Amino acid sequence: MPRAKELMDRVALREGPTALRDRAKRILSALLPRRLPLGLRQTLVIKAAKLRLPGHYWFPQELLKDFAEENPDAYHAFLWRHHLAYASSFEVDERFGARRRNPRRMFFADLLTCLGQAGIDAGEIDSVFEVGCSLGYLLQFMESDVFPNASILEGIDLDEHAVQVGRAHLHHTGSKVGVAHGDMRNLSKILAGKKYDVIICAGVLMYARESVALETVRTMLDHANKVVGIAGLAHPRTDNAQLRNSTVRSTDRGFIHNIDEMVSQSGGTILARKWQSELLDDEIVYFVFATPRTPATRTVSTPS
Ligand SMILES: C[S@@+](CC[C@H](N)C(=O)[O-])C[C@H]1O[C@@H](n2cnc3c(N)ncnc32)[C@H](O)[C@@H]1O
Repeated sequence: MPRAKELMDRVALREGPTALRDRAKRILSALLPRRLPLGLRQTLVIKAAKLRLPGHYWFPQELLKDFAEENPDAYHAFLWRHHLAYASSFEVDERFGARRRNPRRMFFADLLTCLGQAGIDAGEIDSVFEVGCSLGYLLQFMESDVFPNASILEGIDLDEHAVQVGRAHLHHTGSKVGVAHGDMRNLSKILAGKKYDVIICAGVLMYARESVALETVRTMLDHANKVVGIAGLAHPRTDNAQLRNSTVRSTDRGFIHNIDEMVSQSGGTILARKWQSELLDDEIVYFVFATPRTPATRTVSTPS
């Protein structure tokens, strides 16, 4: 063991800590028991995360590579449901508070512009729903900064851990926001008999295959009084509105959809939209704002 440490220190001195970590990752990765049945590997990654073993961020992604290739949406659902890998960064300290308050600044700016163009004052908005709300930090931002008169702010998320810790935090801070555990695959049941002025879904459809994403868009439009706002994964070269089918991003197996087309297929009308091939101010920019009725499509200009 001391020899191993000595060796690692020598490599770290020579190549730097990042190179050392990458090298350790490559060695461990080569040793991973990928031939075990999928169920067993899934149990292994859940156990490793509970024990907070080093590498719990990349370990599930490495060990479940074949699962991600073959069935990307089941793979993402598994990671979110068990709060694994990228999901583990969704914790109260990381997502609430002044610095992390609004990771979707441009999305909300455009949502407000779009409402204004449709003749709707933000002060009129009484109810908001978020699909894939995680801990509820965007709902809380809407409560404090976007829709100050809203009396109902609710959301669902697949990540039960995030929902539980988010709910405790929101309760503690005296927020009206309500978050619940739920799967967007059951959205029509969850929203049965309910309508909200505004429904948003940001950074969530990328975890769902095309048919599920389409059904989610349709259900959101069915249950919105005024506007549905969606932020999706932007295609790096082609405006998503030109895509004939959804594609899967090779780096992380995230789905890139044509949400414009999904809105049209659902009988909705696009009020405003925006697509950018590159990140803007750290935000992925493919936004679609739609209504179940109003006809008039405009491009929202981003406030500088
Ligand atoms: C990248 S986070 C985005 C969170 C937040 N909407 C935002 O924009 O910052 C994606 C969220 O979608 C949720 N999610 C993924 N699949 C879901 C599903 N089938 N049903 C509900 N939520 C889901 C995840 O649990 C996670 O909280």
